[in-house]
Amino acid sequence: MSPLSQEVTINGWVRTFRSNRFIALNDGSTINNIQCVVDFEQFPEELLRQINTGAALKVKGNLVESQGRGQKVEVQVADILVHGGADPETYPIQPKKHSMEFLREQAHLRVRTNTFSAVMRVRSALSFAIHQYFNQNGFYYFHAPIVTGSDAEGAGEMFRVTTLDGKNPPLTEDGEIDHKEDFFGKETNLTVSGQLEAEAYAMGLGKVYTFGPTFRAENSNTSRHLAEFWMIEPEMAFYDLPANMDLAEDFIKSVITYILEHCMEDLEFLQQRLLDEEKTKPQAERSEMPLIEKLRFVADNRFMRVTYTEAVDILRNSKPNKKKKFQYPIDEWGADLQSEHERFLVEKHFKCPVILFDYPAKIKAFYMRLNEDGKTVRAMDILFPGIGEIVGGSQREERLDVLQEKIAALGIDEKELWWYLDLRKFGTAVHSGFGLGFERLVLFATGMGNIRDVIPFPRTPQNAEF
Ligand code: 4AD
Ligand code: MG
Repeated sequence: MSPLSQEVTINGWVRTFRSNRFIALNDGSTINNIQCVVDFEQFPEELLRQINTGAALKVKGNLVESQGRGQKVEVQVADILVHGGADPETYPIQPKKHSMEFLREQAHLRVRTNTFSAVMRVRSALSFAIHQYFNQNGFYYFHAPIVTGSDAEGAGEMFRVTTLDGKNPPLTEDGEIDHKEDFFGKETNLTVSGQLEAEAYAMGLGKVYTFGPTFRAENSNTSRHLAEFWMIEPEMAFYDLPANMDLAEDFIKSVITYILEHCMEDLEFLQQRLLDEEKTKPQAERSEMPLIEKLRFVADNRFMRVTYTEAVDILRNSKPNKKKKFQYPIDEWGADLQSEHERFLVEKHFKCPVILFDYPAKIKAFYMRLNEDGKTVRAMDILFPGIGEIVGGSQREERLDVLQEKIAALGIDEKELWWYLDLRKFGTAVHSGFGLGFERLVLFATGMGNIRDVIPFPRTPQNAEF
């Protein structure tokens, strides 16, 4: 049945009201507004005056073929109810270009713009695609605890969780804060990663994944770091590193394909937005591919797999290194790679996503499996154009004695990890997993420039408004 000539009822927010006649109404379900045509002689002025940008309306009328350009159909309005007006003097989101910085300060209202509604719909579609992918591939959704006593990444960048009185905490005989008196009877933090707990569950359910919030108190004010971000962490028993890489690559391609199939209107809008924005930039900073082409490229091409050692050779001999253009020059094997190096490899050298693996043990977390050479571990990072690291993962050390040595060398008390070591005492097996930073994926998928603009209410240093 043709939708034309049907009576429709639409609830939504006014984007614009032109000539006392054309209301562009949007209910959040699509990037497209519906044009509602008002015969102003039919309605009291009093009511029309309330139809401002930002007002919430209920409109009833007939759906007809549009006479104007820009839309196929429009609503001939028979009835209007104003749910709530929006004073044009004070409503911050006016129909003009606002800066991203300004909109961050209006994070409670910014989803009413085209850009943010498109980003958030893509974000939602991606998270659905992620659950669907794992569900179809034999994984169980595992809920890692948020409050934890362990520091999975060993980086010590954690938010403390305590109910002790900050002004007057109970002290031990040595004058230290006595966490025995704390809520959990020990020091606890917000989790930086659900991995260690996911490992326990993989060693019983086979394949699990987490998808939840994680917290890092690192003071990095960059366009790619958040203090609260969402991470997807699959963990698989009986997977070695190559199997782990295969899964990560297939997974990312699959969820990107999903949004290409389901979010085309939003992606087209975001692509155009990016093209407009890039016109204002110098040529050298413009991306080489439009957004949709870039997504297709990633979905269709094999990721390059390169060892850390090969990557360091490439970097050492690279032009920017020789010309001292890197902020952190690469002199020797063992150096930690900075985002400038990762982006050089991906954007300039290989020109495609890259999986780097077999990193020096010294620069990676304690749980990664030691290689036969005794100095590298079975780690892998996936690097993306414009983003840098999007995935970090590894094959886990499944040998009790090797893990114990590692823990001792790092000065970690074995007692703190007793249950983690148990997994190596009872039915241990080769296993692997990785963590995908969800916001970094959304950043890539939407072409946005700052991670603060792909999460509804960003938490960053000095910022937890809303
Ligand atoms: O490389 P990371 O630290 O790895 C882990 O946490 C492992 N436990 C994962 C695992 O093997 N299960 O973090 C994984 C990913 C990074 O590659 C990055 O995409 C993202 O999480 N990430 C952040 N995203 C936003 N803001 C931050 N501060 C982030 N830190 C890491
Ligand atoms: Mg990492």
